[in-house]
Amino acid sequence: MTGRPDPPAPAPGTRGGTASSGNGAAAALTAVRCAAVTKTYGSGAASVQALRGIDLQVRAGELLMLVGPSGCGKTTLISVIAGILDHDGGDCSLFGENVHAYPKNARTSWRGRNVGFVFQAFNLIPTLSAAQNVAIPLLINGSPMDAALARARLHLREVGLEGREDALPAQLSGGMQQRVAIARAVVHGPRLVVCDEPTSALDSETGRRVIEVIKRLAVGPDRALVIVTHDARIFEFADRIARMDDGRIVRIEPGA
Ligand SMILES: Nc1ncnc2c1ncn2[C@@H]1O[C@H](COP(=O)(O)OP(=O)(O)OP(=O)(O)O)[C@@H](O)[C@H]1O
Ligand SMILES: [Mg+2]
Repeated sequence: MTGRPDPPAPAPGTRGGTASSGNGAAAALTAVRCAAVTKTYGSGAASVQALRGIDLQVRAGELLMLVGPSGCGKTTLISVIAGILDHDGGDCSLFGENVHAYPKNARTSWRGRNVGFVFQAFNLIPTLSAAQNVAIPLLINGSPMDAALARARLHLREVGLEGREDALPAQLSGGMQQRVAIARAVVHGPRLVVCDEPTSALDSETGRRVIEVIKRLAVGPDRALVIVTHDARIFEFADRIARMDDGRIVRIEPGA
């Protein structure tokens, strides 16, 4: 298990009051450490080697963007990093913890407290309102319903969805659904936020504003943000840009 008490989720616009690693080792904190990570889907002639030996570190306090052509393995890599997909070779640790080695329940619980994920297809629950969708991570972590919904509404305002809190996903545009998914990923103050194409459905101005919000809410001295994107308009927000091709990291460069 983690041995680390959970910090309270930060309110929008504040830096979460986290106590780093709890033992003063914050300065050396590496958020994500991947070493020789491999992942193959399927077996035999139909198998696809999606990750072919990934070496990557994401520092606490940074926004790392991951770019590369369609099919090169970006979603696979961030799914492994976030602990929602098992890799088959190499090591992947989060904040110094080998989360992948935890028993399934412990891993799920760790992920629920420490990771936020914006899925490429949003993955909102269609029968729940925007506010109820955003409240889910808080409810999973034991927050009372009223408090969870109040915080969810605050975060929806942060992403520009004031007045749409009670709408069902189907009543929202794609860009609005994407912003609900973003609010849901950051609402519980996770230490690692992973976003898969978070601006793909947003116009230029909204995309920039939303990235600013994610960065403010998700990056801090002991927090990190990984964003998969094709959107060069948001490169300026990156601390570093990792370029992938054919299951490998081929280059890492400073943000634009
Ligand atoms: N569940 C799966 N089963 C089999 N193959 C898969 C699965 N998911 C992904 N792949 C394959 O693994 C490779 C990497 O896919 P992945 O989705 O990680 O790429 P990506 O870089 O995110 O692409 P995109 O930019 O189109 O989202 C692709 O060849 C893809 O077809
Ligand atoms: Mg993808």
